[in-house]
Amino acid sequence: MQHLLQFLLLLAMPVGSPAYHTLFAELLGTEARRKPDAGFALIESTAMAPISPPGDTPLQGKHIVLGLSGGVACYKSAELTRELIRAGATVQVVMTDAACQFITAATMQALSNHPVYTSQWDAREPNHMPHINLTRQASAVLVAPASADFIAKLAQGRADELLSLLCLARPQHSCPLLVAPAMNREMWSHPATQRNVAQIVADGAQVLGPAAGDQACGEVGDGRMLEATELRDELIAFFQPKLLSGRTVLITAGPTFEAIDPVRGISNHSSGKMGFAIARAAAEAGAQVTLVAGPVHLPTPRGVRRIDVVSARQMLQAVLPLASQHQVFVATAAVADWRPATEQEAKIKKDGSGQVPALALVENPDILATVAGLPIAQRPWCVGFAAESHDLVRHARLKLERKGVPLIVGNIGPATFGQDHNTLVLVEQEQETQLPTADKLTLARQLVAQIAQRLPALQMAKPA
Ligand code: CTP
Repeated sequence: MQHLLQFLLLLAMPVGSPAYHTLFAELLGTEARRKPDAGFALIESTAMAPISPPGDTPLQGKHIVLGLSGGVACYKSAELTRELIRAGATVQVVMTDAACQFITAATMQALSNHPVYTSQWDAREPNHMPHINLTRQASAVLVAPASADFIAKLAQGRADELLSLLCLARPQHSCPLLVAPAMNREMWSHPATQRNVAQIVADGAQVLGPAAGDQACGEVGDGRMLEATELRDELIAFFQPKLLSGRTVLITAGPTFEAIDPVRGISNHSSGKMGFAIARAAAEAGAQVTLVAGPVHLPTPRGVRRIDVVSARQMLQAVLPLASQHQVFVATAAVADWRPATEQEAKIKKDGSGQVPALALVENPDILATVAGLPIAQRPWCVGFAAESHDLVRHARLKLERKGVPLIVGNIGPATFGQDHNTLVLVEQEQETQLPTADKLTLARQLVAQIAQRLPALQMAKPA
């Protein structure tokens, strides 16, 4: 009862406030105390390494030169400018003459809050060299939309107007080039365009998209520019450290649903958000990611392979053959512990007598423990989650032993189910590491970094 009251209080408090931390610490089973000069911190009885959250503006400090070449997709670049700025970036827009036919420089200046450059002869630069000045402090050049003609110019290294000129003149080591193609499907699939795209990739450019779908000309196919939010996320991913490059990661996420009859079942409140955030963070970090998801309504993170399942047994069936093909297994799914012993083929009906049906349950297989029990050569490095209501660290430690895994990530289930934020404690044999309250993607990136740190030792320990 006391814990229930504490949860309700916790949910009503501002996330991250000192009072929130104090109450959270009580639920964790850890002690909270105020450091004299360093704000508020959770102090665990054993080794505890606090890590501060990086904030919710992932492009903070990034200076993006956004180049527009001619195409209907220029309308998306207006929204893209806003998305990049919202994510913390500063945006300097450069437009070709053709781009100015589709959207005005005035619009792009208003949205980016910086004068737009359209000519290499722009006299505003004291040295008359905008093609040099614009990229020297830039974090990246993103050309969106990139027309077939503009990609051809890049492939040939031509420089007869400002945008292609600055792409050629940019310092390649410090200012990467990203290109978001936008064109008719026939133009995209033409061997000349494909040859040019291959050439710019060979020269170091990163090509984002294109997507397939309806085109401005009325045709349907490959060549649509990615949406503004997709391009924003691609850019965010581009800047993440590639800590899991070359690694393979298998993740379970969401609840499972155990059918009682065709219309009813047993499930839980897991939203899948934490597991999906980890899938996204692992993909951003360069891993090949497979996500086995229970019934949730979440979009698949870009670049992630997703397998949808419903029940615990289906989840196990999907995971087992994949486990040995992956180096890391992160079990975030809130797997239903029990399922009805028999699934009724027809809906169970009330007969008006007031009698309730007897529901016999049987235990579901433990997916994490099964994977952790595989022979060492087939076993990925396993990370479990513990969703507890109280005494988090103690219960997480018990799970570490019981499931035979090197790392259990503990969280207070009722405080995080369906929420966008969470607080994690990493429990290992020798230590506990606190990841303070933050949004789930921020925590997922921190967790991915923590997992990456632990992998080399594991690789060396594994037989070849
Ligand atoms: N897990 C699993 N298969 C199950 C049950 C749990 O793979 N049948 C995994 C979860 O994905 C999580 C970890 O085991 O990574 C712990 O899950 P949790 O539900 O917290 O613990 P349980 O083992 O179910 O124990 P309890 O419900 O008693 O806390």
